[in-house]
Amino acid sequence: MYPILEKRLLAENIYEMRIHAPRVAASAQPGQFVIIRLDEYGERIPLTISDYDPADGSVMIVIQALGASTQRLCAMNVGEELSSFAGPLGHPSEFVKKPVEELRKKRILFVAGGVGTAPVYPQAKWLHEHGVTADVIIGAKKKDLLIYTDEMSRVANVHIATDDGSTGYHGMVTGLAKELIEKNGYDLCVAIGPMVMMKFVALTTREYNLPTVASLNTLMVDGTGMCGACRVTVGGKTYFTCVDGPEFDAHAVDFDEAMRRQGMYRTQEQKAIEEAKKRIDNGQ
Ligand code: NAD
Ligand code: FES
Repeated sequence: MYPILEKRLLAENIYEMRIHAPRVAASAQPGQFVIIRLDEYGERIPLTISDYDPADGSVMIVIQALGASTQRLCAMNVGEELSSFAGPLGHPSEFVKKPVEELRKKRILFVAGGVGTAPVYPQAKWLHEHGVTADVIIGAKKKDLLIYTDEMSRVANVHIATDDGSTGYHGMVTGLAKELIEKNGYDLCVAIGPMVMMKFVALTTREYNLPTVASLNTLMVDGTGMCGACRVTVGGKTYFTCVDGPEFDAHAVDFDEAMRRQGMYRTQEQKAIEEAKKRIDNGQ
């Protein structure tokens, strides 16, 4: 069992939880994820790792209460336990394998959207610890929904964008990305956030021939490459996000197909949310 050691509200409906999972903490690397279950009958929930500490055996996850299972997870408290916490899964970010000297010559731009800001943090932190200070755009609908701005500012140069202009650049992350690319030029862009954001970041960076990586948060079931739920098309070929990803060349990803597949179970998800609400209202 995997106890919740800490819980913090980051923004409306977005929580950070520190989980005691020593084996995952010991081998986690930036870019990887976990699949958790709340109990033995629970749905498997893939979540990107937002920090890890091998010394105390803890792993940080950030959850947005969107569906029935994530709402249940967000309602859990310190001391309660998750039934399973499988990971670290997927390949670490490409740059982890690069020689540090080569990496130090690179100018890297991260584009983080909404809850996707959390998985950018371990990547920016790892780079910072290896002598590379990246630029990070953090985008959110409004000021109150921005997360990880303080943590990120300690390890990267942070640029904020809000859709409503309540703070920072007024507009979507793609507008600010364009400005920074034209001003600074970069060798690599990494986009993590909603699928639609990653699609438009890829379209933007393509104009500048800027190599771009996207971390795909597809639906997942087994997380072992067996079920096919996380199938994506990249460069005309089929890949499984859980074992081949989660990071792919953003210029080759078929984002329209990925978005269609992501919405496949929306009706069932809505039904599950309504049933969960009824159970809570009936005190079950
Ligand atoms: P959001 O909808 O508020 O979007 C965040 C930012 O993305 C916006 O502020 C905007 O700047 C940008 N954006 C959105 N649509 C855009 C468009 N059409 N063109 C250009 N930029 C655009 O974000 P949210 O509500 O926090 O999103 C949650 C989503 O993030 C969920 O769908 C979740 O699954 C996903 N997510 C992805 C990852 C990942 O690994 N890729 C990790 C966690 C969460
Ligand atoms: Fe089943 Fe990836 S989640 S193949």
